[in-house]
Amino acid sequence: MNKFIIAGNWKMNTTITDGVEIAKNIALNVDQIANLKSKIIICPPFTHIYSIFKEVCKSKISVGAQNCYFEQKGAFTGEISVDMLKAVECQYIIVGHSERRLYFKESNSDINKKIKAILTNKLNTILCIGETLEQRKNGTTFDVLKKQLDECLADISEEEIKNIVIAYEPVWAIGTGVSASINEVKEAHDWMRSYFEKKYPNAGKDIYLLYGGSLNDKNAPEILAVENVNGGLIGGAALVPEKFLSIIDTAEKLSV
Ligand code: PGA
Repeated sequence: MNKFIIAGNWKMNTTITDGVEIAKNIALNVDQIANLKSKIIICPPFTHIYSIFKEVCKSKISVGAQNCYFEQKGAFTGEISVDMLKAVECQYIIVGHSERRLYFKESNSDINKKIKAILTNKLNTILCIGETLEQRKNGTTFDVLKKQLDECLADISEEEIKNIVIAYEPVWAIGTGVSASINEVKEAHDWMRSYFEKKYPNAGKDIYLLYGGSLNDKNAPEILAVENVNGGLIGGAALVPEKFLSIIDTAEKLSV
């Protein structure tokens, strides 16, 4: 079992040429780490996935997608199914990112259907949850997280949860350059751990709880050292190989 999962969420960035170069750079450097202990995932835009897979398939990097649709096929213009992603060798799919919830009105029930489609195809999910600044200010953070987890994970069994990674991403920390404080990270991750231990008595203690939201090469040593932080979902810093590699290096040093 890996101690940390370090995942890059590229969002809607890079042309395919630039994206392949970034992925090659990361793969080349990660492959030089002897006895790699972390799981490294990059999630580029849909259009890049197969080209990047072909470049990195012999490396230690896994490739993921940033979204999917829950139907298998049919008249859903503009959507991409889990089957299609599996066919281009995706191993992970991010669902429930706050940008999808905000701009594309994705609901917890949509996310639940996506997770079920991902499980049916035997791929892994990275489920994002997190509160807005307003919710944090009015003291409802943990009600919000509970509702998101309860609804997104409705009818997910103890066996199935093993294929799901959780990313706690406070919305107010995403892309702002200001991460949650160490205390805020610790409080949220401890809360999630006890939520999962209660809900899934056997699997709960081993569920990966990633932190995301302005995680970078500078704050990674402190954030990844927090108990119950099992890795990171990284946006901006994942597009800069030196920064992403430095976060991986931190995870390796913290892995015992
Ligand atoms: P950020 O994005 O690292 O740029 O804040 C994280 C994310 O949205 O997953």
